[in-house]
Amino acid sequence: MRSAPFLAVVPALIAASIVALIVVSGGACRCTGPAPEPESAAEAGPRYVSIGRDALDAALAVAEQRGALHVLDLDGDVAVIEVDARDLGLLAEQIHARHDRCGGFMVHDSYADARAAIPVHTDPSHADPSHAVRPELDYTLDRPAAVRAVLPAVDATRIRETIRALSAMPTRYYQSRTGAEAARWLQARWRSLTGRPDVTVELVDHGYAQPSVILTVPGAARADEVVVIGGHLDSISLLGAASAAPGADDDASGIATVTEVARVLLAHDYRPARTIQFMAYAAEEVGLRGSQLIARDYQRRGVRVVGALQLDMTNYRGSDKDIWLINDHTSAAQNAFLGRLIDTYVGATWGTDVCGYACSDHASWNRIGVPASMPFEARFRDHNRAIHTRRDTLEVSDANAQHAATFARLAAAYAIELGKGELGGPDAGAGDSRGSSRPIVALAVLALAGLALSGLASRRA
Ligand code: BES
Ligand code: ZN
Repeated sequence: MRSAPFLAVVPALIAASIVALIVVSGGACRCTGPAPEPESAAEAGPRYVSIGRDALDAALAVAEQRGALHVLDLDGDVAVIEVDARDLGLLAEQIHARHDRCGGFMVHDSYADARAAIPVHTDPSHADPSHAVRPELDYTLDRPAAVRAVLPAVDATRIRETIRALSAMPTRYYQSRTGAEAARWLQARWRSLTGRPDVTVELVDHGYAQPSVILTVPGAARADEVVVIGGHLDSISLLGAASAAPGADDDASGIATVTEVARVLLAHDYRPARTIQFMAYAAEEVGLRGSQLIARDYQRRGVRVVGALQLDMTNYRGSDKDIWLINDHTSAAQNAFLGRLIDTYVGATWGTDVCGYACSDHASWNRIGVPASMPFEARFRDHNRAIHTRRDTLEVSDANAQHAATFARLAAAYAIELGKGELGGPDAGAGDSRGSSRPIVALAVLALAGLALSGLASRRA
């Protein structure tokens, strides 16, 4: 953690000029796009945003339109700014308008939280070294029979229909009525996947309209260890909160992929050793807010998350390979595990790339030391350009959702090989190294052979 406080630590000239530029009031609006809808009254008051230094021009544009906005810290590659909650939408819009790579920022309720979000090193080409493999996480691949029983059940048409349903909603913006309805719709959809009473589907209230949704399959042997597979439920339009935001790729595709993984596992009566949680995060598009609240709550309660997989944009094949493992704000060890899962079970082509900033909810887990990964649909530079507009529809990405189905197979393999455990039902687990029906068959064969041999022996005698 960098410890240098406030602007005193940066060269005085740079600091002074930036503060002078940012703390302006009522400047002429130079923004060409329409202003976003005002945020609701419930979402007012100071917020602390950690933001890439190179995106400070967006903060300046917000200051010009809305008045004072303070740079509290400018420390290396990351700045901390104070902004009113009502201006967060405008800040998101400005970042997207000015930075082809989007920008990326995290919103925090306190200055201390924002400081804590600044990574030890912000070199995007390196995964966080604190994520060295823990002894208990040896990333073994020893559940081939279970994985091979489940993967063929992944159904692209179901993924397509879930994307269609979610993207038919006018917007899933985190403060909108339809954004809240999307969460309740998903809760009912996930609840319908199984009648098992031990499987729960809960809404997590964050204090704004849209809750997050969490489906929990409790672990049979190591319930205190949690594997998280998630995506974000909200969508956003650059034109403001009231504008259409179908978000078919960003990120109905991820939610539909997560849903299909949960469906195939539950259809095979999967009984994991570790607890598996499927998460649909609220409010990712406005600073990873839902996932941050959940991750921080887990950290506070001492919940041990052993791995987190983020599925954000899975259905647009923009590059020459199928899957791109994002290498920054993620765990190098878990990424290597994913590479082996792809080679062993999925049979897809893959490469590595970087976002260059905390581009999605994996960063919330990474920040608290949880091994996190984000398999992505394309090279970053080739990503779907329709996102955050009304053009982000199913037709623009893979209309048959075959691309997303590849990610569902990877995520299902990840769930089984990290969650371990068994498939329920009469044939479940056959061929696995542990707990399968194979030992029973072998015993029966041995017993029969013994009987035959003793019969033979008695006849000879
Ligand atoms: N799905 C995007 C992130 C993304 C976009 C990754 C393009 C790779 C290529 C995500 O929903 C998003 O828009 N994130 C924000 C950052 C967040 C901290 C507000 C972004 O990229 O601006
Ligand atoms: Zn987005």
